[in-house]
Amino acid sequence: MMKIIKTSLFIFALLMVSASCSRKLNDNSNQQEPQISLSDSYKNHFFIGAAISEDQILEKDNRSLSIVRNQYNTITPENALKWMFLQPSPNKFEFDLADKYVEFGLNNDMHIVGHTLVWHSQLADFMNEVTDKTIMSNYVSNHINTIVKRYKGKIDTWDVVNEALNEDGTLRESIFLKTLGENYIIDAFKLAEKGDPNAELAYNDYNLCNPKKREGALRLIENLQKENAKINAVGIQAHWKLNTPSINEIEKSIIAYAGLGVKLMFTELDISVLPNPWEVVGAAVEQNFDKFIGDPKMNPYPERLPDSMLQKQAKRYEDIFELFLKHEDKISRITFWGVTDKTSWLNDWPIKERTNYPLLFDRNYQPKQAYQSILDLKK
Ligand code: GLA
Repeated sequence: MMKIIKTSLFIFALLMVSASCSRKLNDNSNQQEPQISLSDSYKNHFFIGAAISEDQILEKDNRSLSIVRNQYNTITPENALKWMFLQPSPNKFEFDLADKYVEFGLNNDMHIVGHTLVWHSQLADFMNEVTDKTIMSNYVSNHINTIVKRYKGKIDTWDVVNEALNEDGTLRESIFLKTLGENYIIDAFKLAEKGDPNAELAYNDYNLCNPKKREGALRLIENLQKENAKINAVGIQAHWKLNTPSINEIEKSIIAYAGLGVKLMFTELDISVLPNPWEVVGAAVEQNFDKFIGDPKMNPYPERLPDSMLQKQAKRYEDIFELFLKHEDKISRITFWGVTDKTSWLNDWPIKERTNYPLLFDRNYQPKQAYQSILDLKK
């Protein structure tokens, strides 16, 4: 009898091993996803999430979608809610993709971000032709009303205005500023609040830890507050490098913004490991870098990122998250701009056709050292 039991156990064990081998063979990376979740580990501190692409929303990229489901508790649409896609021609709204995005968030119990209502870039073409103040004002209010009301109670946070500032902290000469004057920011926030009084409202921009731009953003927030427009948060995009901005400047910024009573969100976090063309040639921000396409100096890791660089990046992420934890009372959300290195926008910006490695998951959907370093902080 004992022998029969032992033989059956042996056969059972063999079957288990072979099942797990065939699972691994079917899985082209030969590895499994991590069992632990970033958002669970940080759930007592802040939301952690990712921007998701059209392919993910349409469930065409299920491996990265499963990372989103398992690791994150907040989502931002990489493009689906931008003006050019939502209202490509006057008063003609296309909600299919945006609806699916919101549905995904609701089904997975995510904190859902709406990005973005008023932004000079990725606008519909017709908007760039408007010169008349009343026409522009009607378009903007109709856009905000229609969208915010449609997703009332579903979208939790709105990036109401994106990138309204120049690097020196003055207001950008956008089509909105040109046609509407500087009150367009206040009006946009007031309209968003009217559309959904319970939604959290944010101003979002890049380089917001640079002293001059920070001063400008602080003025912009104070101005909204003075005019009794509701603003709950500032969104610091956080497209950062290995050495800049310094932890010191980030900390100063957290303290300065929190001093105005708004929460901080780090909304588009990624850390590029590639040479920065502005440093190489000292060029203006608007410069086109096509002359660098294919230049191996600007694309030093086309096959794989060396271990030393992976470690450097992991340390940088660790330092940043250590700071976030230190100021957790002031921070409500951290969102990565994408899920895996494979589809990061930084493979094509500011120089096209490079191989960058800015995120926590590699091209085989596997967690990198950076992922581990963030998780280890919570052990
Ligand atoms: C800005 C925008 C984002 C996105 C990134 C680059 O940061 O806010 O929506 O377009 O640029 O992909």
